[in-house]
Amino acid sequence: MDLEQAVLERRSVRRFNSDPVSEEDVRSILEAARWAPSWANTQCWRFVVVRDPQVREALAGTLTPTNRGMDALRKAPVAIAVCAELGRAGFKQGQATTDKGDWFMFDCGLAVQNMVLAAHSLGLGTVIIGLMDAKGAAKVLMLPDNIAFVALMPLGHPDHRPIAPPRKELSDLVYYDRYGNPAR
Ligand SMILES: Cc1cc2nc3c(=O)[nH]c(=O)nc-3n(C[C@H](O)[C@H](O)[C@H](O)COP(=O)(O)O)c2cc1C
Repeated sequence: MDLEQAVLERRSVRRFNSDPVSEEDVRSILEAARWAPSWANTQCWRFVVVRDPQVREALAGTLTPTNRGMDALRKAPVAIAVCAELGRAGFKQGQATTDKGDWFMFDCGLAVQNMVLAAHSLGLGTVIIGLMDAKGAAKVLMLPDNIAFVALMPLGHPDHRPIAPPRKELSDLVYYDRYGNPAR
């Protein structure tokens, strides 16, 4: 599958069938994350691969009850918890170097995008879950204090092809030379 096809076709999948996901596929998805760009190559991301149904259920308890990803998390055979070591991305000698502070969300986003595209190219589905109690999830996963919980990514075999939610037009998003200048 070429990159353009993967980018355009990937959708958030919230319903999975019960087929297992091989360790080989999980590793190749994590390998895609490992090669993402990161602040000064600090690679602050950390991943917890969750297969244990009890841990998954405990994580489900940290989702906002109306979260549309709840079923996905419960049914997917694997969920990857995306975490980050704090104080690395955007820092030099312990000091934040920009007005943004810690860039861990940015770097983890890049790693996650690599993973969702890699999963799609293997015929697997994912959904990113962020609407949840991150501190509760950190407790379930027994994260040390310097590691932040960022998001969950259930992974499984899709049992449907979701319809693409609409996107804004490029003309609503892109300006030329100065903010607000439309294309000539
Ligand atoms: C940072 C982030 C957090 C998200 N959190 C959730 C979530 O908690 N529950 C959920 O069902 N979908 C969640 N999503 C998925 C988005 O709703 C989805 O990407 C968006 O509607 C576009 O649909 P598409 O991924 O199929 O293109 C999240 C996506 C991102 C990028």
